[in-house]
Amino acid sequence: MIDLSFYRGKSVFITGNTGFKGSWLTKILSIAGAKVTGYALPPSETPSLLTISGNHKESECVFGDVRDLPTLSQAMENAKPDIVFHLAAQPLVRLSYREPVNTYETNVMGTVNILESLRNFPAVRSFVNVTTDKVYENKEWAWGYRENENLCGFDPYSNSKSCSELVTFSYRNSFFSSPEATAISTARSGNVIGGGDYSTDRIIPDCIRAAEKGSTIQIRNPHSTRPYQHVLECLSGYLLLARKQYEERGLSGSYNFGPDDDSCVTTGDLVELFCGIWGNGARWSAQGDGGPHEANFLKLDCSQAKTKLGWKPVWDIRTAVQKTVEFAKCPTDPDRRSCMEGQIREYFSL
Ligand SMILES: NC(=O)c1ccc[n+]([C@@H]2O[C@H](COP(=O)([O-])OP(=O)(O)OC[C@H]3O[C@@H](n4cnc5c(N)ncnc54)[C@H](O)[C@@H]3O)[C@@H](O)[C@H]2O)c1
Repeated sequence: MIDLSFYRGKSVFITGNTGFKGSWLTKILSIAGAKVTGYALPPSETPSLLTISGNHKESECVFGDVRDLPTLSQAMENAKPDIVFHLAAQPLVRLSYREPVNTYETNVMGTVNILESLRNFPAVRSFVNVTTDKVYENKEWAWGYRENENLCGFDPYSNSKSCSELVTFSYRNSFFSSPEATAISTARSGNVIGGGDYSTDRIIPDCIRAAEKGSTIQIRNPHSTRPYQHVLECLSGYLLLARKQYEERGLSGSYNFGPDDDSCVTTGDLVELFCGIWGNGARWSAQGDGGPHEANFLKLDCSQAKTKLGWKPVWDIRTAVQKTVEFAKCPTDPDRRSCMEGQIREYFSL
């Protein structure tokens, strides 16, 4: 179990705090007693998870672009963080086919700019760059990818995240190699599900939108296998990694955070599980739309996070779907907020 008491009184800077993962991370840290400053674009939907969670009142929010180095650096300097998490990104595969330039600018230059900001504010002790399971060259094999395997994402999103890994590697070697320098790691997690994800072209948000309307859920690739996990699973990994490398700089590196093998299911299995838990006659059908290439088989080997950090998955895939449905079925925003807080307290045994 991850002990959050380390974060009490710490100053934490999070890019991407207005998004799905960033909102959950901000909420966990606020509950743990940290002083959180977020930096991101304003939320694109209303109501957003930023306001549903109450984070807009409980943390400092700076609206800015990660491509804007002076503003980002100033925001970090104002916040005087001990720890920085970089989550801001254009995170959608299909959108990256339509907007490759924006995807590379945000995901690659955004990484350069956050690392430059760290150079300008060297008091930061620990930095975690959040990338993805898709950074690896996908060989469509049955084994989980290990951290030392080739980085070469296929589509613009995955590839921009491979680039973000390489940028981080270069900055760590070139500018952060002394023993007093910021400890720097990258974190590669699986496909995340959980309450409050309103993105388009993501499987569980698509399921919820269809089920709420009573329409049939359309699935593009029911046979593709993905490391699905609840959002609290990967966030517990990021929090543990940031703490461990803060305390012992030598632990910095690259870490996978994914589910155990029995939770690596096909998209069809996931949707079947969703329909059973949602009830009300929820149903799905396979409907390929001739869309762009997406990997068929993707799994992560998380031995390193388990051995070196002592991290392990807590909620299996069924629990992850149950918790997501529980959030989606809350009748009001205040209910959603207490559901979110309740799930965090349950997960971290607070
Ligand atoms: N959700 C998943 O399944 C998943 C899986 C693996 C990795 N990731 C990674 O986790 C991180 C968070 O993903 P998410 O699911 O919360 O995405 P999200 O779309 O919900 O949030 C993205 C955040 O990035 C911010 N952002 C985007 N462009 C920006 C810009 N130019 N300047 C400043 N902020 C900008 C947005 O405002 C938002 O706060 C991303 O780096 C993503 O690649 C997500």
